[in-house]
Amino acid sequence: MARKFFVGGNWKCNGTTEEVKKLVTVLNEAEVPSEDVVEVVVSPPFVFLPLVKSLLRPDFQVAAQNCWVRKGGAFTGEVSAEMLVNLNVPWVILGHSERRALLNESNEFVADKVSYALSVGLKVIACIGETLEQRESGDTVAVVAAQTKAIAEKVSNWTNVVLAYEPVWAIGTGKVATPAQAQEVHFELRKWLHDNVSAEVAASTRIIYGGSVNGANCKELASQPDVDGFLVGGASLKPEFVDIIKSAT
Ligand code: G3H
Repeated sequence: MARKFFVGGNWKCNGTTEEVKKLVTVLNEAEVPSEDVVEVVVSPPFVFLPLVKSLLRPDFQVAAQNCWVRKGGAFTGEVSAEMLVNLNVPWVILGHSERRALLNESNEFVADKVSYALSVGLKVIACIGETLEQRESGDTVAVVAAQTKAIAEKVSNWTNVVLAYEPVWAIGTGKVATPAQAQEVHFELRKWLHDNVSAEVAASTRIIYGGSVNGANCKELASQPDVDGFLVGGASLKPEFVDIIKSAT
C-alpha cells in the first residue's frame, strides 16, 4: 500500500488565543489536496487543543506535543495519554529533540512513552535525529538507528507510528538538510526497519522530515522517494504552511 503523505505542524510553545484562532482560519480557508492524498495534523500547545479541535476543519487532525509515560496519577504538571484519548485528540508527538535535550528524555524513556501512548489508542509521531557533533563524527546512522531500536524493542505494531527524522542542527536554524542528506538518512532508516522489524513495516511506515522546512524548500524534499512528509516547526505558524501541505502532490 502506498504511504500517504503526512504533514505535521508543531506549533511548539507559541501562540495566544487570538493568534491560534487566526491560524486556524488560514488553515480552514486553504485549498489543499484531499485527505486521500495528504494527512494534515497540527499540534498546538496543550491549553489550546480543545479550542483548535473545535474550530479546525474536519479533514485536519490535532496532536498533543507530549504526554506522560504511564497512566495518570500523582504527576504534577503532566498530561496523561488517557486524557488525550478522553478529549478525542488522536495524535501525540513524542521524543522531540527539544525535550530529549532540555528535559533529558532518554531513548528508553521516549520508547516507553511511545509504547504506552499506542497502548491506549493514540497515534504517535516519534521523533529522532542526530546533533551536529554526531553528524560531523560520522555517527548519524548509528544514532538514529539506536533511537529507533529503543522504540522497536517496545513496540510490536507500527501501524500507528510515524517516524520523524529531525536532525537537531536543522531545527529552527534555517539550515535545512539537503534533499540528498534527508533521503540518505530516510533510506537508511527504512533499511533498518526492513532488517530489524519487517519488510512490511519498512514499506508501510511513514518517515517524515523535520528541520527548517519552508514553502520554498519543501517541494524538492518531498520529491525524494523515502521522504513521506514533514514535521514543520516555525513555518507551521505562517500561511506558507499551506504551501508545504500542497507539496504532497
Ligand atoms: O517539530 C518540528 C521541528 O522541530 C522543526 O522545527 O521547522 O522550526 O526547524 P523548524
